[in-house]
Amino acid sequence: MTIKITRQYNPKFLKTQDRLVEIVSDDIKYDPDGYKYYFAEIDGETVGVIQYSILPNLELLWVDILFVAEQHRLKGVGRKLMKKVMRIAAKKNFKVGLTPIGTSRKFYERVGISFAK
Ligand SMILES: CC(C)(COP(=O)(O)OP(=O)(O)OC[C@H]1O[C@@H](n2cnc3c(N)ncnc32)[C@H](O)[C@@H]1OP(=O)(O)O)[C@@H](O)C(=O)NCCC(=O)NCCS
Repeated sequence: MTIKITRQYNPKFLKTQDRLVEIVSDDIKYDPDGYKYYFAEIDGETVGVIQYSILPNLELLWVDILFVAEQHRLKGVGRKLMKKVMRIAAKKNFKVGLTPIGTSRKFYERVGISFAK
C-alpha cells in the first residue's frame, strides 16, 4: 500500500481568509496565501486531508483540520500528513500548534507532538 501526499491550494478559501484577517487582532497575521492543504491518497482515492495556516509573527504553524476517512484510519495516513507539516515547521524553526479533539490527543503524542502541561 502506498500513501501519496499531494499539495493543494483552494482559492475559494481566500475570500474567507481575507474577511478573517479584517476581524482578527493585528497580533495575528495570517500568511497572505491563506490556508494550505495536503491531501493523502491511497490508490488514487483521497483518504485524508490536513489544513494548516502559517502565522509568521507568532512563529507558528497552526493545524486547523486533520481528517482521515474512517475506513482508512490506523494505516499511518494521519502520521504521514502530520509529519509533512511538522517538517515544514521545523525548517522554519516554527512551533506546531493545534487543539486536540476527543481521543486525537493520543494520536498526536504518538506522532511526536508534546503538549504544554
Ligand atoms: C486522529 C486521526 C487523524 C488519526 O489518523 P490515523 O491515520 O488513523 O492515524 P495513524 O494510523 O497515522 O496513527 C498513528 C499512531 O497514532 C495511534 N492512534 C491513531 N488514532 C488514535 C486514537 N484515536 N487513539 C489512540 N491512538 C491513536 C495509532 O495507533 C498509531 O500508533 P503507533 O505509533 O503505535 O503506530 C483520525 O482518527 C481522524 O481523522 N479522526 C477524526 C478527526 C479527528 O479527530 N481529527 C483530529 C482533530 S484535532
